[in-house]
Amino acid sequence: MRVETVPDPVIEEPTDIVIRVTSSGLCGSDLHLYEVLSPFMEPGDIVGHEPMGIVEAVGAEVPHLDIGDRVVIPFNVSCGHCWMCDQGLMSQCETTQNHEHGTGASFLGYSKLYGQVPGGQAEYLRVPHADFGAVKVSKERPDDRYLFLSDVLPTAWQGVEYADVPDGGTLLVIGAGPIGDMAARVAIHRGHRTIVADLVDERLARVQGRGAETIDVRDLGATEVADRVRDLTDGRGADSVIDAVGMEAHGSGVKAVHKLVGLLPDAIAEPLMLKGGVDRLTALVTAIEAVRRGGTISVSGVYGGAADPLPMMQMFDKQIQLRMGQANVRRWTDDILALLEQDEDVLGVESFATHHLSLEEAPEAYATFQKKEDGAVKIVFRP
Ligand SMILES: NC(=O)c1ccc[n+]([C@@H]2O[C@H](COP(=O)([O-])OP(=O)(O)OC[C@H]3O[C@@H](n4cnc5c(N)ncnc54)[C@H](O)[C@@H]3O)[C@@H](O)[C@H]2O)c1
Ligand SMILES: [Zn+2]
Ligand SMILES: [Zn+2]
Repeated sequence: MRVETVPDPVIEEPTDIVIRVTSSGLCGSDLHLYEVLSPFMEPGDIVGHEPMGIVEAVGAEVPHLDIGDRVVIPFNVSCGHCWMCDQGLMSQCETTQNHEHGTGASFLGYSKLYGQVPGGQAEYLRVPHADFGAVKVSKERPDDRYLFLSDVLPTAWQGVEYADVPDGGTLLVIGAGPIGDMAARVAIHRGHRTIVADLVDERLARVQGRGAETIDVRDLGATEVADRVRDLTDGRGADSVIDAVGMEAHGSGVKAVHKLVGLLPDAIAEPLMLKGGVDRLTALVTAIEAVRRGGTISVSGVYGGAADPLPMMQMFDKQIQLRMGQANVRRWTDDILALLEQDEDVLGVESFATHHLSLEEAPEAYATFQKKEDGAVKIVFRP
């Protein structure tokens, strides 16, 4: 990761806007690009997919925005009028799908797998399909009130929706990074009993402070974590589980494969990713063990391997329901915005970020966030 000067973006399509970025999140998804997905990155790719800012230029077909408006930009680049967008599946938008790689909708700053769209950890950003995507927000409150509408909030919200927690049921959230933490906040706000598992003290302390029960998984295998969950749930397991960790889980033995994929020349690493099993599956296997029979697993964490071994006998025998995918951001933003507009900061978004840094500090910030040092849970750049 480097900070470079590049030409300022300009309007290219009538549905574009250009914004001056005022805040831009650093996400666990960026860490995948930093390590295991790095074979799909090219020199000069601009990263970042959680931006907000002030409109500087408006294309001819963006009637809802004017210069000077304050907007949050969803990480999905979605058109809003194709068949998939009509189904509320904006992360599968048929207008911006990437047929060459067989992937869904394009995302800001997310490698050639997802359209190689220049991202938002930058001073200025061209926003494609802003006529649908850009969410206008009030100018009254601090950026952090609204910033997480770009990714963290809709991802956590969809995670909880897909988890389908029954009335009076228990939700287990695996991972207390920004996504798991926010998913726990949303679930607690909805009145669900919520248990959160992670291995980093300050992350566990944060969710405990919001009313979650916690499990420190540091010295536990998947089965032991599941045993703890069963002890807390009449021996059955959690009704619903969210995997908010994904493919770089701590605790399984294949870290070496990741390191290797990161080091190999792209020509060798890419086919390995596209044909092999490269994920560290500890979190997903924990979810499969800890969910009760007939329960639901909702996978928010990103996975990337093509041939990962999963315990199919156990999954079938337990009658597990499994839902997953990138968040369909605009499907949820109106509902979430209504909550954010309340005077009370219901989900604690204004104190959610642990670090506000300049763009110049980005290379160190990536390293700090990856190593979970310096109490870093959520880093926000202020270009
Ligand atoms: N589906 C989506 O649309 C979407 C959007 C944003 C992020 N994500 C994904 O969500 C995941 C989490 O992102 P994040 O921003 O919260 O970042 P993060 O990487 O900081 O969070 C991961 C957390 O999981 C914990 N963890 C690691 N191994 C674990 C294990 N075996 N058991 C329990 N906890 C474990 C880590 O300590 C960390 O706190 C990433 O995979 C990211 O790519 C998905
Ligand atoms: Zn993100
Ligand atoms: Zn679409």
